[in-house]
Amino acid sequence: MCGIVGYVGKQDAWPIIYEGLRRLEYRGYDSAGIAIVNGQGDLQVRKTVGKVHGLDETTIANQLQGSVGLGHTRWATHGRPSHENAHPHIDCQSRIAVVHNGIVENYLELKQQLIDAGHSFYSETDTEVLTHLVEEGMEQGLSFQDAFRRMGNLLKGSQAISAVLQGHDSEICALRLGHAGGIVVAHADGQAIIGSDLPALLPLLKAESNAGQVGFLETGEMVVLTTAGVQYQDLDGNPIEKEPRLVTQEEVLVDKAGYQHFMLKEIMEQPQAVASAMRERVNFETRQVVFPDFPLTSQEIADLERVVLIGCGTSLNAALVGRYLVERYGGLPAEAESASEYRYRDPFIGPNTLVVSIGQSGETADTVAAMQMVKDKGGRLITICNTEGSQASRIADGSLYMRSGIEVGVASTKTFVASLTILNLLAIFLGKSRGTLDISTTQELVDGLTKLPRLMGDLLADIAPYKQVAHEYAKFDKFLFLGRGIIAPIAYEGALKLKEISYIHAEGYPAGEMKHGPIALVDNAIAIVALAPKDSLYDKVANNVKEVKARDGCVLSVLTEGDTQLAVDVDHALYIPDAPEHVLPMLVTVPMQMVAYHIALLRDRDVDQPRNLAKSVTVE
Ligand code: F6R
Repeated sequence: MCGIVGYVGKQDAWPIIYEGLRRLEYRGYDSAGIAIVNGQGDLQVRKTVGKVHGLDETTIANQLQGSVGLGHTRWATHGRPSHENAHPHIDCQSRIAVVHNGIVENYLELKQQLIDAGHSFYSETDTEVLTHLVEEGMEQGLSFQDAFRRMGNLLKGSQAISAVLQGHDSEICALRLGHAGGIVVAHADGQAIIGSDLPALLPLLKAESNAGQVGFLETGEMVVLTTAGVQYQDLDGNPIEKEPRLVTQEEVLVDKAGYQHFMLKEIMEQPQAVASAMRERVNFETRQVVFPDFPLTSQEIADLERVVLIGCGTSLNAALVGRYLVERYGGLPAEAESASEYRYRDPFIGPNTLVVSIGQSGETADTVAAMQMVKDKGGRLITICNTEGSQASRIADGSLYMRSGIEVGVASTKTFVASLTILNLLAIFLGKSRGTLDISTTQELVDGLTKLPRLMGDLLADIAPYKQVAHEYAKFDKFLFLGRGIIAPIAYEGALKLKEISYIHAEGYPAGEMKHGPIALVDNAIAIVALAPKDSLYDKVANNVKEVKARDGCVLSVLTEGDTQLAVDVDHALYIPDAPEHVLPMLVTVPMQMVAYHIALLRDRDVDQPRNLAKSVTVE
């Protein structure tokens, strides 16, 4: 969602806030803005529609001098992307600037009250009511801090808010309500920074020789930043003691490492992501899964009756693969559900239901809300997540971290294969613990996984075939991705990757369902991507491919090396190495990502920041 940055200290605030916004741009890039209180105590605001670099176009003219300020990069919810709707928003007298991430659910009611009291509005946003509420509190004689706290107490909904006051050249207030957005806080050497996420804090971590103490705001907490320090309080104004966490530069460093895009870098990091996901969870001598961080006792595992896997987008596709793995190797009934639907259902969740949420960010509003519902109903809850300290990890009974490092490309790549790796480990662990998998089968499954980093590395060593295929297929405006069994969710993921970064219409479908409707689409204007590695359903997919070819469809297939049967039927083929079925989803994913990436490049798309999207969707 949106990104917030605030700085108070002794340096010029503009470059620090600007750098922070660039680092948080993955959260939204519909517009950006910065407000600085200058040396004379005046509040000055610069805004741009579109990306953060728009603020920098005339750097010298635009830079404002002053050592306290706020910045914002927006993913539009209320009001289209425009100059008026860009944050920071200011009050009637241009004294208070506010930046906001989330949704004020009762903003219409509040806005009407404020209009009745004589306030006038210039934007279509819900955010603007916040500035007027602080202004109203100050008009009633409250201090800036108290007016800010009063504003927080009047709101419904989930959000993070920060404000700065003209003339108050040494104070920033911020608060957090609900789970829509985090606030992280660092203070060192007479300077303080807040941000929606850790990368915004980098300037202070740099200064602090690679590491720094970071405070994480909980819901219902407020923080006041001054050059003298950071004070935490609740929304009644009572001071709170907060234990900071040591964060290293590596945790927050965001760098393309010479690649043209973060997405390509992150695809290339996948062998490492798979290895990191296995680290300390696989005993390579006994070839067993160990899971030292598993939150259920042996008895609780034995008592489990079913597993429900939930997630959104790419993480939902991972959940769909997880369903096969848990059924097949975990020996438990398994379901996979879209968290955005699940949260509004009334599912049966007993004490022996294990719900596994999957999410890169751990902040997706729908996933977090579904988790909360599971918790309220008394289910057991685990999260597979890439972000330590995220909402998901706080709600869950235990977290199985992906350890993929920050993923910046808006399209998820390395965290998808990390999720699939952990889901494999989880299924094997459950099967072994419950006695449905014997030792030698477990060892074979673990062996398959341990070869994965090398096999993925081989797939990524030569990118020429993906580029060549992309050149052949970039001309198509419609794609249908087909797969069966454990590979069906990879067809959905292939379609999702292509549509989100190239804006080409793409649909993922179970290959066996094609004859029940989608086959009507087949003509020479649609590309069919048939995922047909050698697995237990290979012959079935081969028949589906023949059905397409009989209707003159153009077929790109992903096949196992050495396949001579289908290779002659299809128009183009990409190959993956022969591998056991449980690791095929990760291998088949690589050509899907690479072809989508190169088609998007050929179509001149903004690969890392595709239109209308944001890295983590912290509103409903
Ligand atoms: C697609 C993509 C999104 C996310 C979805 C859930 O490439 O990245 O579909 O998967 O928004 O995000 P997380 O995994 O953070 O819950």
